[in-house]
This record gives sequence, C-alpha cells and structure tokens, in this order.
Amino acid sequence: PNWLPLKLRIGGAEVLRLAELELLDYHHELDLRTALLTRRLRFRDKEGRETALVSRRFVSMTSMHHAYLEWTLTPLNWSGEAEVVTALDGRVVNGGVPRYRQLESDHLRPGSTMVPEPAVLALKSVTRQSEVIVGVAARTLVRVDGREVDVPRSDFGTTDYVQQTLHLDLERGVPVTIEKAVSMFTSRDPATGDTIVRAHRSVARSRSFEAAYDHHSASWARLWRACDMRVFGDDEAQHLLRIHICHILQTCSHNTADLDAGVPARGINGEAYRGHVFWDELFVYPFLTFRTPDVTRGLLMYRYRRVAEARSAAKAVGYEGFMFPWQSASLGTEETQELHLNPMSGRWDEDLSHNQRHVSAAIFYNVWQYVTLTEDTMFLEYRGAVLMLGIARFWASIAHYSPERDRYEIHGVMGPDEYHEKYPGASESGLRNNAYTNIFVAWICDIAAHLLELLPEPRAKSVRAQLELRDEEIVRWKDMSRKMFVPFHDGIISQFEGYEDLEELDWDGYRAKYGDIQRLDRILKAEGDTPDRYKLAKQADVVMLFFLFSDPELKRVVERLGYEFADDSAERTIEYYDRRTSHGSTLSYITHAGVLARFDPDASWDRFKVALGSDVNDIQGGTTREGIHMGVMSGTVDLIQRFYAGMRVSDGMLLLDPNLPAAVDGFAFNMTYLRSPLTVTIMRDRVTVKHRDGVIDSVPVRVRVAGEERMVQVGGEETFSLA
Ligand code: BGC
Repeated sequence: PNWLPLKLRIGGAEVLRLAELELLDYHHELDLRTALLTRRLRFRDKEGRETALVSRRFVSMTSMHHAYLEWTLTPLNWSGEAEVVTALDGRVVNGGVPRYRQLESDHLRPGSTMVPEPAVLALKSVTRQSEVIVGVAARTLVRVDGREVDVPRSDFGTTDYVQQTLHLDLERGVPVTIEKAVSMFTSRDPATGDTIVRAHRSVARSRSFEAAYDHHSASWARLWRACDMRVFGDDEAQHLLRIHICHILQTCSHNTADLDAGVPARGINGEAYRGHVFWDELFVYPFLTFRTPDVTRGLLMYRYRRVAEARSAAKAVGYEGFMFPWQSASLGTEETQELHLNPMSGRWDEDLSHNQRHVSAAIFYNVWQYVTLTEDTMFLEYRGAVLMLGIARFWASIAHYSPERDRYEIHGVMGPDEYHEKYPGASESGLRNNAYTNIFVAWICDIAAHLLELLPEPRAKSVRAQLELRDEEIVRWKDMSRKMFVPFHDGIISQFEGYEDLEELDWDGYRAKYGDIQRLDRILKAEGDTPDRYKLAKQADVVMLFFLFSDPELKRVVERLGYEFADDSAERTIEYYDRRTSHGSTLSYITHAGVLARFDPDASWDRFKVALGSDVNDIQGGTTREGIHMGVMSGTVDLIQRFYAGMRVSDGMLLLDPNLPAAVDGFAFNMTYLRSPLTVTIMRDRVTVKHRDGVIDSVPVRVRVAGEERMVQVGGEETFSLA
C-alpha cells in the first residue's frame, strides 16, 4: 500500500498538481549519509499565490516498521484557508515497468480501513497470491513553531483507501509542519496478531520525526563505519561508490537479516523482474560478508528453506539432489518466463534461460565462501553442509559418464551467457559441456567429497542420515573431480563443446550499423538471425572462472582434471573472450574489470567506471527506473577490495596483493574479518592494516602483503612497504 500521499488544496480549489503549477524553484536531494530524501520547492498557483514547500522523508534504519514524511508549508504572499489531505492507498498497481503494463499488475486485494483515533488512519490489504496480510497505519500531526496544534479533521474511507482532510488556517510567512508517521506490519512479522491493530498501536506511540530521525541517523552512522570505502584521487568514483553502498544497504541490512527473503536482482527499488532472485547474490555476498556477515547468513537461509522445492524440481526431470530454479520467488519453484518480448521486433521469442543450472553451483560457492570467511562452523554443521551436499548430488546426477572419453559430461545446460541457448538450428535446448559449469562442478565435487571429514562425527552422521547419503556418491564425486570433461580450442577453454565451429561476428559492421550493440540478441533476432550462430557472448561465461577462483586454485582444479593450465592461460583466455563480449548484462563489466585488474589495471578501471556509472547514467536506456542493479552496485564495491586491493582469505589469513590503476592514488575501506573490525589502506607504496578497537571477541589477525606475513594485534596497526 502507498503510505506517501499528502496533498494540498488552497482556498477550496482543486488539489495542486506539480505539473500544473508554475515552479519558481525546485531542488531534489538524497543525503547519502542517511538516505534522507528532501525536496524544496517554491511555486505559484493560478491565483498568483506563492508557497514554499519542503518535504523530507525516510524509512527508518533503526526501527524497520517505521517510515516518516514531513511537509513544511509556508505561504509566501498570502494568508488563508488550506487543506492538507493525508491518505493510505491500497489501490496501487505495479506500473513501474512499461514492458509489463499489459500483464497482470494488480497484486493487492482490498481488506478494510479505519480511523481508530482522531489523528490515525489504518488500512489492511492482502497480497492476492501469497495472501500476506499487510497492515499500515499513519498518524498525521500538525505543528507550528514545534508545538502540536489541534485542527479540524474530516475522514473518508472505502475498503482499500482511507484519507483524512486537515483544515488549516495559514498565515503569510508562518511555516506549518505536517508530520506523517507511518507504521507497517505484515502477517509474516514476529510478535504480530492482527496486522492493522499492531500497526495502529505502534504508530500511536511512535516518536516525532526529529527524534526518530536522530535514531535513524545513528544506525546509518554505524553502517557507514562498517561499510564506507574511500577512493583517493577520483572524486567521481568516490561519490558513485557511496551512492552504491547507500542503495545496497537499503535492500540488505541488519533489518533484513531475519526475513525470509533472498537478494532481488533489482533491489527493492523497482519492479523489474518482479523481485525475482537469480544468481546475482554471488556478486553481492563479498561486500556483505566482509561487513555484515549475519545478513549473508540470513540470505543463505532463503535458499535453505527452499530445498524441498529444489529437490522436487530435480526429481521432476529425472535427477537427484537440489536443483535450484534460475528465477526464484516465494515458493522456490521455477519462475522463469518461457516467452520474452523483443522490443526491437515486437515479437515474443522463446526463452530458454531456465537452463542456467549454474545457479546451483553459485549457491554451493556462496555457502562455502561464507563459511571460509566467517568460520561460522555452526552454520556449516546445521545448514550449510546439507545445502552443499544436496547440490553436489544434483551435479552428480545431471552429469553422465562417457566411456569413450572416460570423462563426465553435462548436456542440456547454459552458462551465464544468455545469448547461447542451444546449437543453431537444434530442436533441443541447452548446450553440451559448458566449461564454466563443468570446471565449477569439478571444484564442487572435490570439496563435497571431503566435506563430511570437516564436521564433528555426530554432525557428519546426522547430515548423512538427513540426506540418506550413500558411500558410492562420495566415490563418484571424487571421480568427477578428476574426470569432468572440458572443451578447448586454439589452446583456449571453449565456452561449450562445439564453440569453435561457430562463426565470427562482424563486430565492426554491427557497431557501425547499430551503434550500441549490447543487446545483440534483440538485434540479431529482429534481423531474423540468431546469436546462437556466432562466437559472441552477452556476458562473462568462461571468464567467470577467473573472477571466482584465484589462479592457483583454478590451476589445481584444471590440472587435477589432467588438462594443462599454462602460466599465460588466464591472460589469453580473458583476452580472447573480452573481444567477443557485448556486455548485454551490466554484470559483465564487473567480471571483466575484475579479471583484468592484474594484467591491465587501466583497462580494468575503464570497465569499472562503466559499471560504476551504469545505474546513474542508465546505460541500458530506461532500466534504472525499473530498479537498481544489485549485483553491479555490490560488484563495484567488491572490485575495490578483491581486485584492486587484491584481498583474499586463505588458511585463516588475509592476503593483500594490490593492483592500483593509474587513475587513483589509493583506496581505504573498513571491513570485518573474524569478528575483528579492520581499516585497510592501500597506497602506491604501502599497505596499512589497522585493527580498530572492536567487539569483545576481537582477535589478532594474520595478514600477508607482498610475501610478508605479520600479526595485526587487537587495537594495533601494521604498515607494509610495497617498495
Ligand atoms: C543477466 C543475468 C542476471 C539477470 C538478473 C540478466 O540480464 O544476464 O545474469 O542474473 O539479468 O540481474
């Protein structure tokens, strides 16, 4: 329900609409420190009355059920009667994505409304499909000179809309403040009975705007202390990074850690993808885990709670284990669309993207990273191991053994590159042996085969029992870690088997003809052609391997498979695909910027800057208003720590191996490692790690920079020279 409506009528005239007023002054500002939105306007209406209006609003970071909106109205050249209408509106539709407008957009069923006390309105709605009950209440007060004043009020309500009109007598030059405090509860919230009653009780005792804002600011200050990142020498990058951090924290924070929610690809800032959860969390966790690990754990629980659906999805197509959906929502069933509108041709094309089974590999990776970075063994023992082994079981069942090759193969899947959905002209969907998937699976199988050895005996037993794990499964994982098939051509890992037979695209020709060729899929399909025919990629696919794994790690996996991993493998492979990628997903700039950082920090920085500006500059032409790109925003912050600072964790030690682009003088960021709050500063000639006086169970942290290993004591600081 929309909690925002506040409307103004002067002297009995119509409600004023911004578009119909003469604007004398307009200023719109988002304060990144506290995500406070302020609008200041001065306008002249048809009768020549000039009025100043300052509106401020925030959603509390301290008290997750509360939001505030405040208007300060000043008649500049008039005195007289005015009415302010405050309302709660349950008639909202999802109209934020133009492409979706012809589809079902009405998701709230009317419930009831009431005016439980003179200054409070309340509304209850129910979501149509999931039947979540939402209770909202608003208390609207009027203040002059900071003192609350009584005003006459008249109410109006239906089942899905309720409003109250406040009758004011305004005096020229005297500001009047209208303060709308809002409280929202759903039937999923703990300690809630009837949501409308709960919302009413809560709003009736809520603080004033100012007092609530103070608390809210204190929470943000704590968050910034944990999450801020400095860029020295590039003010634009600095500013954009903070915009990203501010937006990420509005979607994922301590307030969401206990919710049953995943990471929506477009944040909660817009309606694109309808809030669906893809693999994008893979790009979000590195930022969160080093700062708010409890949030990562909460998000991993979103997956854990949906293993039953993942199991039944696997079973339905003849597999075992957990096969997570490419697009996930409340139930955990597959939500991917089967048809996709091509705005260039106006045609609905077949969409096979659900074959991106790699999402299950990403979930395995995410759990393992979380456990490695936090050493949260309880999570591993009671939740993580089941998730990981259930996923390993899925991979073992989708893979088949080929006696001719003496290798395991996976057919009928797609990698992250969504422009290759099948072989040209083929009737069946998917590809054979996507290298990203197969190598990832070899890595998974190796970890899975040894995972139970890491658990205390009783826990290992219980995980085994829970999954009804058979000894031969572990034997098979070991075998797969040595025998997954990987296709190669020209000494390069092929994106999938048969890739070398595809045609080269005339990149220059297409650029000359279309200018922006990010969405080559739409272009080629509108021409009656298909991207399936060409050596091109929407986004990083093979290259993702170099983004997720360090060279030594990847070398171990590839050599264990009996393939060669030369010293220049990474560089040659990245260079090969970099020339053949259109970056039709902005995530791709993140990956390419990341992998290029150590070979060519300046080329990397160019891509980083594109990623950094992608939402602010709306580089995909209209997608930003449909919601932020969570993976990209988090990815930019992660690039600074993992690729430009070169930070990794290995054997309980923090490794830093910086690659500074020429455009910057250095970076500094706050992070938490093993419950110890650290500030890391990377300059061209030195690295400093400061252990900030932290929490009660802070421990000294082992750090290695440029081959030199030292202990950073609690409250201490170490500087490593990079001479
Ligand atoms: C990308 C996917 C991504 C999805 C949601 C698509 O355009 O190709 O990799 O998961 O958007 O962000």
